[in-house]
Amino acid sequence: MRSNNEQMDQRRKAVLTPNYATQPIQIEKGVGCRVWDADGTAYLDLMGGIATAVLGHCHPKVTAAMERQAHKLWHVSNLYGTGPQVELAERLAQFCFADRFFFCNSGAEANEAALKLSRRYARDQGEDRFEFIAFEGGFHGRTLFTLSATGTPAYWQGFEPLVPGFHHVPYGDLEATQSRLSEKTAAIIVEPVQGEGGVHPAPAGFLTGLRELADHNGCLLIMDEVQTGIGRTGELFAHQISEVEPDLMTLAKALGNGLPIGALCSTERVAHSLVPGTHGSTFGGNPIAAAAACAVIDELTQEGVLDHAQKVGAYLGQELEDLANRLGPEKIVESRGKGHLRAIELTRPVGPVIEACRNSGVLVISAGEKILRLTPPLTLSREEVDEGVRTIEKAIIETALVDTE
Ligand SMILES: Cc1ncc(COP(=O)(O)O)c(C=O)c1O
Repeated sequence: MRSNNEQMDQRRKAVLTPNYATQPIQIEKGVGCRVWDADGTAYLDLMGGIATAVLGHCHPKVTAAMERQAHKLWHVSNLYGTGPQVELAERLAQFCFADRFFFCNSGAEANEAALKLSRRYARDQGEDRFEFIAFEGGFHGRTLFTLSATGTPAYWQGFEPLVPGFHHVPYGDLEATQSRLSEKTAAIIVEPVQGEGGVHPAPAGFLTGLRELADHNGCLLIMDEVQTGIGRTGELFAHQISEVEPDLMTLAKALGNGLPIGALCSTERVAHSLVPGTHGSTFGGNPIAAAAACAVIDELTQEGVLDHAQKVGAYLGQELEDLANRLGPEKIVESRGKGHLRAIELTRPVGPVIEACRNSGVLVISAGEKILRLTPPLTLSREEVDEGVRTIEKAIIETALVDTE
């Protein structure tokens, strides 16, 4: 008899579009850093919904906030004010450079808004700035504008022509950035750590250099913190470690701990270009999603929560570094990352390692053909780090053996 996972997999394949490389298990339940599949098998979740379940699955305080709001009001559109999105904006303003917030539903939508606002702002200043500098390996979303900002040509294939005006330069290269800046540049868009592109933290001085270049040129600096924001790298926002302040920042993923919500965070000066009628989103700032996000910010800014995350994040980094040293350059090229956004670059394709980890009860993801990525909840314990790293080590050794047989 076929297992529940197999049956569900077959049903899924019959009705859903085939655009995802979905694993052959169906996840039914999650608590903290564990999830359970349709056959009752438990997994240690080191991917946390691709960097969304920042406080772990079904966090009691986020669930309670969402439930309270669900009994009060679900949705009325932005033609009326609603409390939770104002409360969320006030909370975010307390902890970052921004004074104004536009809420939406995803990372792509937040970046779309940032790119549109950059052009609109320039035009309001009487300048014809419509170009953007983005980075090779960068990822900004799947809408056509954000896809055009994305610096991996494989994602463009079949969708051309892209939105004109993007220049992609090597990540970390200030000279190349400078060479592409002109009086037509509306903004530079950058991730403080490239996530999808292979977990590459910005080299020292890069973000500060971009700020200086943007100021000198007169264009805006957009920090895409969709993956790095909300504590992922140990700071509430990853750029804060460099003491650089962007003009615009985008958030999504972890903001709602898995409930869909995105945000464009802007300085007062720039935000004023979004006058009534210029931009919008039916579900943006939805009361339930915003109430959940308020609970996320409240929990993460409680004393000790980010401290714990920083300690365990550093421990995770050290354990992966030790693993790279133990297995050596024959199997691992490098371990890198920050906080709870980590990667090990393998010498072989990562697919079989991900499968072997799953078969041993640990969920991990890739960030490129040979890169194993970890984006676990910040509530991960040291014991769970040990369990995860042990399983990853075993999987790398076993799959390398099969490869050489
Ligand atoms: C840095 C970054 N920006 C934007 C996006 C797009 O976000 P979404 O999938 O919510 O549209 C992602 C998604 O992985 C991301 O990592």
